[in-house]
Amino acid sequence: MMHKDFISIHDLSLYEFSEMLDFVKTMKEKPQRFQKKLKNKILAMIFQKPSLRTRMTFEVGMLQLGGKAIYLAPSDIQIGTREAPYDIAKNLELWVHGIMVRTFAHQIVIDLAQSTHIPVINALTDLLHPCQAMADFFTIKEKKGALAKVKLAYVGDGNNVCHSLLFASAKAGCEMAIATPSGYEPNPEIVKQAAEDGKDSGFRFNLTNDPFEAVQGADAVYTDTWASMGQEHDKEQRIKIFSPYQVNSNLMAKAKPDALFMHCLPAHRGEEVTDEVMDSKQSVVFNQAENRLHVQKTLLLLLLKENK
Ligand code: CP
Ligand code: NVA
Repeated sequence: MMHKDFISIHDLSLYEFSEMLDFVKTMKEKPQRFQKKLKNKILAMIFQKPSLRTRMTFEVGMLQLGGKAIYLAPSDIQIGTREAPYDIAKNLELWVHGIMVRTFAHQIVIDLAQSTHIPVINALTDLLHPCQAMADFFTIKEKKGALAKVKLAYVGDGNNVCHSLLFASAKAGCEMAIATPSGYEPNPEIVKQAAEDGKDSGFRFNLTNDPFEAVQGADAVYTDTWASMGQEHDKEQRIKIFSPYQVNSNLMAKAKPDALFMHCLPAHRGEEVTDEVMDSKQSVVFNQAENRLHVQKTLLLLLLKENK
């Protein structure tokens, strides 16, 4: 991979996207091959929001590759308040080999990346969650094979996860249908960019307000929280608006009988998904979570290893 940073799946070519998924497979099947590849490398992990999976998989991933990760909590560095992104990046590059960042404004990740010669990895912003979507597409490929034949239905909020799934679908050349309440559609600029990305890949796309229409014949049904991190104040109103978009057995019955149920987690059982669906045989939510590790390790290796 020729890029310095990993900020959006949009930045990858179709070839780089599929190559990366192949590399993740090798990383998962032959982890011992990569045990010492990042010996003495250090990753700084900036978190402005909570995390279980992302923090654990980056930290465990660095350890498994022979390196180390240092966690910086929201209260530690207070990007933009205590110190500007540029100054933070200019300090961190003196001591570490890469920066992973989870923050609110997407521009902060861009500013950090532009301020330093070391790699910057987007570990979720209000706009995108690219590491998640790579793990999700790896999981779909593991379970369903050829991505080009897959129909992915996303039901719920047109948020960061939805945006990165859109870019991944465009690169994979699959079909994606999105159902959101009116006013909660994905960002039109992201939709436009994904359509351009998918011009030559076979990408097909449908946006609707009807969840039953979206899941019709789907190979995978994906949902995410109705109130993302930073939107907690709006949660009660969102629960009312989104309740027709709950993924329950009735909705799953409209997808293919062997359709996967997917969720990036954390899930809010009884809200966007019922226990019945979350705990069903069709649910691959913990496979997705496991695959976060293999994706993170692949990314870290591609970006942090010397002479890349
Ligand atoms: N899916 C995901 O990114 O989980 P965390 O917020 O726990 O990292
Ligand atoms: N859309 C969710 C994803 C969490 C992994 C959020 O941003 O909170």
